[in-house]
Amino acid sequence: MASESSRRTFISATVASFAWLITGGRALATTPEISAGAPCKVKGKERTVDGVTFVCRNAKGKLVWRRKPGEATTKVITVRVLESAELELGKTKVVNAPAPNGGTTGVVLTRTGAGIAAFRVNCTHAGFPVARVGAVLECELHGSQFNPETGAAVTGPATRALGRYEASESNGGIYVTITSA
Ligand code: FES
Repeated sequence: MASESSRRTFISATVASFAWLITGGRALATTPEISAGAPCKVKGKERTVDGVTFVCRNAKGKLVWRRKPGEATTKVITVRVLESAELELGKTKVVNAPAPNGGTTGVVLTRTGAGIAAFRVNCTHAGFPVARVGAVLECELHGSQFNPETGAAVTGPATRALGRYEASESNGGIYVTITSA
C-alpha cells in the first residue's frame, strides 16, 4: 500500500518537473481576451488587437478595457459584384455593392485592356451618380465628365478624380474591395 502511494507521488512529481522544464518555470496561463468591457489590471495600459487599440480605464470602480477614443474602426470587405462574362472589354456597368458598415455603395466598373477599373459612382462635385455616356462617365447634374479607365475629371465643374476601389478578377467573377473609412 505504502509503495503504491510512493509510486503515485513519484510519478506526479516527475510530471510536474517535466512541465516546469518545458515551460521554463513559467505558469501555464492563457492570454486573456481583450475586448471592450473586459477586465484589465493596469490603469492607462494600452493594447492593440486586430488594429483596434484599447486602453485600461476605471469605470464605476473597476478597471476595464475601453476602445481608445478617437480611433475610427476601418472595415474592409471584398465582394463579388459581377460575373466576368457580364462585362465585355470597353463596357461599363454600375452595381450596388454592400458597404462594410451596412447599406450599399454604388460602384462603376469598366473592363479595360489592363483589367477592371472600379470607382465610386458618386461625382466628386456634389455626389450625383455618374453613368457611361459615349466614351466618358458623365454626371448629368452639372455636366462633369470623367475618364472611365482612370477616373480622372476631364470636364468640370468637378476637378477631382472619382474615388477608386481595388478590383480583381478570379474564379469567373469580378471582386471589389470596399473600405468603410
Ligand atoms: S454633381 Fe456632378 S457635376 Fe455637379
